[in-house]
Amino acid sequence: MKTIIAANWKMYKTRAEAAETGRDLASRLQSLKTDRMVLVFAPFTAIAAAADELRPFAAVGAQDVYPALEGAFTGEISPAMIKDCGAEWVLTGHSERRHILHESSDFVGQKTAFALKEGLSVMLCIGETLAEREAGQLERVLSSQLEPALRDLPKDILADRFAIAYEPVWAIGTGKVASESDIAEAHGMIRNLLSKFLGSVAGSIPLLYGGSVKPANAPAILKLDNVNGLLVGGASLKAESFSQIVTA
Ligand code: PGA
Repeated sequence: MKTIIAANWKMYKTRAEAAETGRDLASRLQSLKTDRMVLVFAPFTAIAAAADELRPFAAVGAQDVYPALEGAFTGEISPAMIKDCGAEWVLTGHSERRHILHESSDFVGQKTAFALKEGLSVMLCIGETLAEREAGQLERVLSSQLEPALRDLPKDILADRFAIAYEPVWAIGTGKVASESDIAEAHGMIRNLLSKFLGSVAGSIPLLYGGSVKPANAPAILKLDNVNGLLVGGASLKAESFSQIVTA
């Protein structure tokens, strides 16, 4: 399975800033010649600018999607619009959308299924809060976030165009990276839950870790069992630190 190193630019970068970082990153990737898959999740308005600069060294994704072809959904963006801007991927269920914008696991599940059916590749984000972890609810939370997204999905699509990012909410943007044993435990749990829901295809779904990943901690995290990549927020905003993580 190819290792995936993904950047989440969140609500940062105008078109000009995205083009500048994209250009810088593309030139670094060109000389690195990595065999890892590099992905950049850009804000909607900067997708086209980022994709123009990054192609063919990195793929670009959107950070959210609405589960309908088109219609009276003010402020929302469809899969066709995302593809039209040059993105092939989309993030669903990022913890900032679950917790700040109150998206339910059912709604995230609908977005995941719809985007896959419309031809996008999807990275589904899951993860527990500190309160849930301390209450011993890690497995219940991961299962309840996975199940609605995996229900009724064709298995061949999942094997091909689907990834999961495990991001403990308490480790995102806080500088508190989860310990290696916490990450290995959660990733093992997710792999088992995937086997329970999907059978043998579970083994071919990449599992990424996210939450305060930096050039210094990336190499150790990538060596852990069932870690097939990284989703990077803060340290992805500059091409220099992100390209160090790409080669970690
Ligand atoms: P962080 O964000 O690397 O800044 O913690 C990760 C994410 O939210 O995807």
